[in-house]
Amino acid sequence: MNASNSNNNSQSSGSLNKKQSSWSGRFNEPVAELVKKYTASVSFDQRLAMFDIQGSIAHAQMLGAQNIISLDDVKAIEQGLNEIAQEIEAGQFEWLLDLEDVHLNIEKRLTDKIGDAGKRLHTGRSRNDQVATDVRLWLRSITDQIIVGLNKLQLSLLDLAEAHYDTVMPGFTHLQVAQPVTFGHHLLAYVEMLKRDGERFQDARKRINRLPLGAAALAGTSYPINREMVAETLGFDGVCENSLDAVSDRDFAIEFTFAASLVMMHLSRLSEELILWSSPRFAFIDIADRFCTGSSIMPQKKNPDVPELVRGKTGRVYGHLTALLTLMKGQPLAYNKDNQEDKEPLFDTADTLLITLEIYADMMRGITVNKDNMRQAASEGFATATDLADYLVKKGMPFRDAHEVVALAVRHAVEQKVDLSDLSLATLQQFAPSISEDVFAVLTLEGSLQSRNHIGGTAPVQVKAAIVRAREAIK
Ligand code: ARG
Repeated sequence: MNASNSNNNSQSSGSLNKKQSSWSGRFNEPVAELVKKYTASVSFDQRLAMFDIQGSIAHAQMLGAQNIISLDDVKAIEQGLNEIAQEIEAGQFEWLLDLEDVHLNIEKRLTDKIGDAGKRLHTGRSRNDQVATDVRLWLRSITDQIIVGLNKLQLSLLDLAEAHYDTVMPGFTHLQVAQPVTFGHHLLAYVEMLKRDGERFQDARKRINRLPLGAAALAGTSYPINREMVAETLGFDGVCENSLDAVSDRDFAIEFTFAASLVMMHLSRLSEELILWSSPRFAFIDIADRFCTGSSIMPQKKNPDVPELVRGKTGRVYGHLTALLTLMKGQPLAYNKDNQEDKEPLFDTADTLLITLEIYADMMRGITVNKDNMRQAASEGFATATDLADYLVKKGMPFRDAHEVVALAVRHAVEQKVDLSDLSLATLQQFAPSISEDVFAVLTLEGSLQSRNHIGGTAPVQVKAAIVRAREAIK
């Protein structure tokens, strides 16, 4: 596709006289140059070209099948559009700003090539249902790519989780050491989030995949069209059932951007963790050098640029969601030119999410784990205090009393600058006489992990089983 921005092409349209615009018949003066620039969308919507051609071919075939245009015309249209597709692919297509948008550029070229048959293509159609169709076709293909990207990232996380199904780390609440968990278990939390994200895109796809064509400008058309035929040709699950709604609503695009925002939110949280964990204060992980940069002034620095940018780009995608919601809120039915503003936020959302998913899957493969530091951190924060309370409950003490007893023991250990497991049996018995030698098994990190042995728990056997289930779900 021609990479040059069509804003630079405005001169090349000098050959068009003002009456040649497809709608200029009722105007007394040409559109001002500045207004052309302001209203044209071809610089960005040329990206829809292949879907526009696909939609036009399906429309023409239906017009032919319904005897609305001749089969010779259909043949000429198909051939012409296929040639145009090749021109676009080869970067030989000249996009003209004077022709406003992708639709009029392609239609004009078709008419130049095949004459009157090209002028018959737009029978029973409007750019309003045409653009809505193009966007839906494009978004459907993007949605499918995103679902693949989400699966690949999950597989990458699962590989890392598998390697660390029993690696001990501190689990946090309030960013304070809470209870031991395995690193694999922690990663599986993100696998769950991404799985739901995938389901959200699958679900949004159902509403994306409906055909607007046939709605024409807003009220439908007087030609004996066959919408189901067009829907089937284009792989839509059905038609949009109200013509006014078909041309005007962009809720499917908003829904897509919302689903994208949630993925970015999840990855932003993981990014925040990668940034913390890779800082020397934590030193839990190392991010492969190819995802980091240095500082131009501080020679010692290795900065986690990729996770930082994922966190930053999350704000950008949220911005697109807000833009699209705001774009729709004041529009009376049916189509308004405002809707042309749906494309750039939507395109950028798709681009940002797709590249983020790809880079993230690779980055997770480049994570190395410092098990000793993770373990050390888990053993420093009284992470097994809850286990001691549970132990006392099993010896017959009510939980609230056990909580209080352990709090006193922790306070004592803090004063002594030791861990709970460093206290002698005699010392522990001063807090609760029911404590016996078997308490030390409970106070170890492994004992704590293994005791949480139920579905959703952090026991290594459960983590292993969860990994198997997650892999099965992706197949
Ligand atoms: N470029 C327009 C858009 O993106 C196409 C539809 C224009 N329709 C119209 N009646 N001006 O929305």
